[in-house]
Amino acid sequence: MHQRGRFITLEGSEGVGKSTNLAWVVAWLEARGCEVVQTREPGGTPRAEAIRQLLLDPEPGEPLDSDAELLLMFAARAQHLALKVRPALARGAWVVCDRFTDATYAYQGGGRGLPAERIAILESFVQQGLAPDLTLLLDMSPEAARRRLQRRLDSHNEQRDRFEREHTAFFDSVRRAYVERARAEPERFALIDAEGSLQEVQSQLAQVLEARVAAWS
Ligand SMILES: Nc1ncnc2c1ncn2[C@@H]1O[C@H](COP(=O)(O)OP(=O)(O)OP(=O)(O)O)[C@@H](O)[C@H]1O
Ligand SMILES: [Mg+2]
Repeated sequence: MHQRGRFITLEGSEGVGKSTNLAWVVAWLEARGCEVVQTREPGGTPRAEAIRQLLLDPEPGEPLDSDAELLLMFAARAQHLALKVRPALARGAWVVCDRFTDATYAYQGGGRGLPAERIAILESFVQQGLAPDLTLLLDMSPEAARRRLQRRLDSHNEQRDRFEREHTAFFDSVRRAYVERARAEPERFALIDAEGSLQEVQSQLAQVLEARVAAWS
């Protein structure tokens, strides 16, 4: 495939299968000869990963103010874009990212209740017009996703992070915010039913990728 790199993001609430399917998307693109940079948010560079720790640590001895949380998300994003994402796109590589700004609208906006206008100010300040070319939104019921996540936590002996400790109402709001964003921008988003088997999910992903990549070339 001889075309310039595109910016693809995977979104969805906890445990829907973002990381599992991110690896699959990367392999799909690499099999077609693309140079792919695989990354995640918050994080993606050493300093941005340090900010991720501040954001996810459930027990730092004090609560995290919602505005501080929002600013830390965008501080990590600025660093990630400057040092990793923009340079990769500039040299023609594809970037596939586990969560991006839609997650900020869903979690800090939908989940925490921060006004979308406040997020939009930081989005335009930090991103200067940069947006994903394609966003794969993995959608499923929060209860079923929670069961998946719990199985993963149990089998890896992991602790819940600060977001994973939130309650059902929080994740319902996160899901609603994601779906609203997908409806508002249907040309960028692909809504994937994530409740089925991995094979079912990946056959939907393959269909979307085939169509988008064909349209871009
Ligand atoms: N379609 C599926 N069917 C059954 N199990 C799945 C499916 N997709 C992912 N899983 C399993 O569910 C668990 C959660 O998946 P994964 O870690 O990829 O989710 P995630 O969206 O990245 O979660 P997080 O938000 O915590 O990063 C993993 O153990 C994974 O193997
Ligand atoms: Mg993950």
